[in-house]
Amino acid sequence: MSERDERRTVRKAVIPAAGQGTRFLPATKAMPKEMLPVVDTPAIQYIVEEAVRAGLTDVLMITGRNKRPLEDHFDRNVELEAGLEAKGDKTKLARVQESTDLAQVHYVRQGDPKGLGHAVLVAEQHVGDEPFVVLLGDDIVDARDPLLDAMIEVRERLGGSVVAFMEVPEDQIHLYGCAVAEPTDVEDVVKVSGLVEKPAREEAPSNLAIIGRYLLDPAVFAVLHETPPGKGGEIQLTDALQVLAQGEGPGHGVHGVVFRGRRYDTGDKLDYIKAVVRLASEREDIGSELREWLADYVAKGAGAPR
Ligand code: G1P
Repeated sequence: MSERDERRTVRKAVIPAAGQGTRFLPATKAMPKEMLPVVDTPAIQYIVEEAVRAGLTDVLMITGRNKRPLEDHFDRNVELEAGLEAKGDKTKLARVQESTDLAQVHYVRQGDPKGLGHAVLVAEQHVGDEPFVVLLGDDIVDARDPLLDAMIEVRERLGGSVVAFMEVPEDQIHLYGCAVAEPTDVEDVVKVSGLVEKPAREEAPSNLAIIGRYLLDPAVFAVLHETPPGKGGEIQLTDALQVLAQGEGPGHGVHGVVFRGRRYDTGDKLDYIKAVVRLASEREDIGSELREWLADYVAKGAGAPR
């Protein structure tokens, strides 16, 4: 074990991936939405890579029906590898093997999906009595902006759970969990005193929106067992965090890290396309050609309805 491994206080990542992805039909009729390519890499691979960069090499995916391609993606593809090896195509071979060697990936099925809180509860047995990180697949966080490291540092200093926030315009807050929070003596670290899932614009207590990264104390499991269905009839993680934020005792207390880095939303069609364009524009292989084409396309009045 390296020195970094020995010091590590958080080792496990949980990735809920049981959703049906209906916003991307018909693409998601026979394929999990997590496998949609962002440039040439499935969205889910970015998420696992982010977890691994923060030292979380034990990954549990919460899956469901039609999610077999996820397991195949993180497993070896012996035939493909043998073919590439025979051709001596080392570059492509490395691309194929990347996802296999990343982490130890485990799978458990959610059965009857009853919300994000329920998905986290399904992880209870695997996680046990350790703090763990939940990563939602719709948010890709840029590798250059290490959000999880900042969250782990806050947990090490202050204990309890840590949620990632971003500031959003008023007319978007109804799409997110929203926080009541006060500043601390550290910039962009806040103390959370309340949370509400997807409030109406006029009821939102702030502009702090939960983005899909949570570092949870295992105390969350006991709370989730008692959490009744909330918004949309689903068991909401936000509701359990509200209890942890307001209660006292072991494992209670919630802090937030306000993220100001680069984040790509792949949750709906328009944002997904923006994410692909932004990431492709920065790529060494195709970036400069794409940027040139885009500039030309826009200059010629692209986007005018036909
Ligand atoms: C979930 C959470 C919400 C959070 C959001 C972040 O909602 O319930 O609190 O703000 O993820 O992406 P969903 O987008 O799954 O409806």
